[in-house]
Amino acid sequence: MYKTHTCGELRADDTGKTVKLAGWVHRRRDHGGVTFIDLRDRFGLVQIVTNPDSSPEAHQTLQAVRNEWVIQVEGVVQRRPEGAENPNLPTGEIEVEAHVVRVLNEARTPPFSINKDEDVEEYVRLKYRYLDLRRERMRYNLELRHKVVSFIRNYLNAHGFIEVETPILFKTTPEGARDYLVPSRLHPGEFYALPQSPQQLKQLLMVAGVERYYQIARCFRDEDQRGDRQPEFTQLDMEMSFVEREDVMNLVEDMFTKMVAEVVPHKRLLQSPWPRLTYQEAMDRYGKDNPDIRFGMELVDITDLAAGSGFKVFQGAVESGGHVRGINARGLGDYSRKQIDELTAFVQQYGAKGLAYLAITPDGEQRSSFAKFLNPETLQALLDRMQAQPGDLLLFVADKPAVVYETLGRLRVLLGERLNLVDNDVLAFCWVIDFPFVNWNEDEKRWDPSHHLFTSPMEEDIPLLDVDPSKARGTQYDLVLNNYEVGGGSIRIHDRNLQEKVFALIGLDPEVARERFGHMLEAFEYGTPPHGGIAPGIDRICMILADEPNIREVIAFPKNQAARDVMGGAPSPVEPEQLKELHIQVVKEPERKVKAGSDF
Ligand code: AMO
Ligand code: AMP
Repeated sequence: MYKTHTCGELRADDTGKTVKLAGWVHRRRDHGGVTFIDLRDRFGLVQIVTNPDSSPEAHQTLQAVRNEWVIQVEGVVQRRPEGAENPNLPTGEIEVEAHVVRVLNEARTPPFSINKDEDVEEYVRLKYRYLDLRRERMRYNLELRHKVVSFIRNYLNAHGFIEVETPILFKTTPEGARDYLVPSRLHPGEFYALPQSPQQLKQLLMVAGVERYYQIARCFRDEDQRGDRQPEFTQLDMEMSFVEREDVMNLVEDMFTKMVAEVVPHKRLLQSPWPRLTYQEAMDRYGKDNPDIRFGMELVDITDLAAGSGFKVFQGAVESGGHVRGINARGLGDYSRKQIDELTAFVQQYGAKGLAYLAITPDGEQRSSFAKFLNPETLQALLDRMQAQPGDLLLFVADKPAVVYETLGRLRVLLGERLNLVDNDVLAFCWVIDFPFVNWNEDEKRWDPSHHLFTSPMEEDIPLLDVDPSKARGTQYDLVLNNYEVGGGSIRIHDRNLQEKVFALIGLDPEVARERFGHMLEAFEYGTPPHGGIAPGIDRICMILADEPNIREVIAFPKNQAARDVMGGAPSPVEPEQLKELHIQVVKEPERKVKAGSDF
């Protein structure tokens, strides 16, 4: 063994012990001929010194080493002289006086400092990810993720679940993103699809009688990149038989409540039991179905007051079936015209035509883009409805409901951050339930499932599928944490007739349905238990627990924003021979010139 101890475990009690340590030179300091080294391994840091008189050779070697060299030392633990202790370091009371120092491997100067948490361009961090992962922040994130996943495994194992692996080479799945396809060599012209999730397989495991299944499952989706998305990501995929919506939600709530208490004890839950919002309530109060409930500034409906208000913009929107809603940004009443214009431009990006405002300075003076059109009673009713006080900034959007929700929902999040209303040490979990079962797709003139094809409608709403599908609710439940959707699931259809009815409702041709999902329909004829499940996103949950701004920070080797692995260089062209074997010909697009590095 190269080491008797890790670099993080020696304490004053160990004084006098002879130890062997190995790790990386984290930092070196020269003090009047004495060289101090902080030696680092994954478990911590420890100070190494040498005595030039008793160990001249070790002393010389230690003077020669540079940051990130890998060395081994043999020496004796000693208390640091009084005044030289470092209370910020767990090993700060001691140091190791080395008698032998061996260089195991030298290192080039790294492209960025490992021992400082400084800003480094992400491209460089990803290109040298193995160095980036040496840094404290990344080490913490890797360990945090490991703790999250181990907690989950232990919890589920103790609750009768078994982990089952499902294929990565499978068939196209209906989660709604584009598939990653894998050409078959043995079957020319045919392709596997990488799973967008193990959805169908976990349901088939229920038909198989597994009853309680989970898998830390890799999923693949070729979709537009965002900070909370990766082309390949990890779900805690779960499915249970003989359960209702409540059973799945209660189990997940108990598991995550205990998990965060153990893994991130410095954080606290906003509320327990977690609030449950209906989809409609989430939209009406927060403008989005993944609301941040850590702060108020909720949307307020003023459509009724707007209807006869005399302000053309408001009235016009109401007359054409729209809504008028507003938010009260407490404390921004002295925003300048320029600052309000900037907020207007922000909502316009997302489709609003404008942003009507009423600002009240701290000493009560009002400025407004529309108050002059309103009679005094309506204005007063509006101020009352918005609970307006001096210092408030009232902001309104009049439009189609979807636009009102989207723009005010985003504006609320922006202003909540600006006003420091979000406490990152608070974890606000909530459930969103009672989603519409289907949504009308105006472009394609058909109904789209609001979750996925296998989600069951609420039992009492099944008759609505024939008369007014828009009114039917699904059994879907979404798990939301601090402004992110971190999980989604549902009770599934387990009856062939209902499944075929749903396929027909969403306009799936019976022939196509049989070709794509025949195995599911057939399985449903062999004694399928009622079942349901959920798939929390591990990356998103870890991102939030680690206070990171994007999921790349909690993935060891992520793809960049352009879905590239800049370290290994994937995707990359392949040999013509390989293509030939796969019966594939690449159609070149001559005019598409991609500059090196233009993915950023
Ligand atoms: P859904 O599509 O809602 O459901 O996905 C579940 C959760 O997976 C995470 N997620 C992602 N994380 C990172 N990058 C992505 N590209 C990405 N896409 C999704 C999110 C999301 O909430 N089979 C169903 C689950 C079920 O019904 O049981 C499914 O996949 O956290
Ligand atoms: P205008 O009549 O276009 O000058 O707009 C008067 C005020 O109403 C300005 O503050 C606009 O930003 C705002 N406004 C315009 N359209 C809308 C809308 N659809 N919703 C909310 N405010 C709007």
